[in-house]
Amino acid sequence: MAQRKQVTVPMLLEMKQSGSKIIMLTAYDYPTARLVDEAGIDIILVGDSVGPVVLGYPNTLPVTMEEMIHHTKAVVRGREYAQVVFDMPFMSYQEGPKKAVRNAGRAIKETGCDTVKLEGGRSVEDIIAAITRMDIQVMGHIGLTPQSIHRMGGYRVQGKEEAQKAKLLDDARAVQDAGAYALVIEGVPTEVATEITEKLSIPTIGIGAGPNCDGQVLVYHDMVNSGWGRKAKFVKQFANLNRSATKAVKGFIKEVKEGVFPDEEHSYK
Ligand code: KIV
Repeated sequence: MAQRKQVTVPMLLEMKQSGSKIIMLTAYDYPTARLVDEAGIDIILVGDSVGPVVLGYPNTLPVTMEEMIHHTKAVVRGREYAQVVFDMPFMSYQEGPKKAVRNAGRAIKETGCDTVKLEGGRSVEDIIAAITRMDIQVMGHIGLTPQSIHRMGGYRVQGKEEAQKAKLLDDARAVQDAGAYALVIEGVPTEVATEITEKLSIPTIGIGAGPNCDGQVLVYHDMVNSGWGRKAKFVKQFANLNRSATKAVKGFIKEVKEGVFPDEEHSYK
């Protein structure tokens, strides 16, 4: 088998040009990072979804830089090939370019990640431009942006009306023009994501955005059904870890209570 190379920003652009789908998954810890990296994922996103998915927060808003740094360091230790993207948490960049550059720099220097991601379109173009001016590569994120949960009134599909669609197209163009190298499009109708993908020269990575984006991303815990929380319509469960782990824990309880475990095989002489 040919030796895999570590995934770089130019490689992702080439993948868009050649029509080879880009695959991204979230990971927040060392074992998951190793697992998805060895399975052949192109990009590991240390998403701020760490908040609701593994830290028990109600949404992504409470997540801090310190928490993101802690989790990203573990992920970087577990990857060999995949690009590692650090998701900038709420209020680590919104205040303005100076703070955004400082925090993006912290992400790169303190974790060893490759690039950063942040949410927003035209409203954050100056921030994306300031970070990329430092030669830190930025992945954009438009559409259903979870850090805007209160403005959106919940996790709602974006871009269904003409005005919203025009705004999304403008946001996508602004993110690209500001210097982003890729764009996550979340929770928008297939037709809108398709048009954005056709119009942009940078790769688009969809989540709940239909099949025509240049790549796809899912939250790892959603696609293996691990943990709690309502699963969105766009989530396909490729495994059911909750079911197998519950079965295992119940088996352990039963065997200990019945004196079956530990047996001779699992004991020292
Ligand atoms: O935080 C996250 O997991 C994300 C993905 C849903 C794209 O931003």
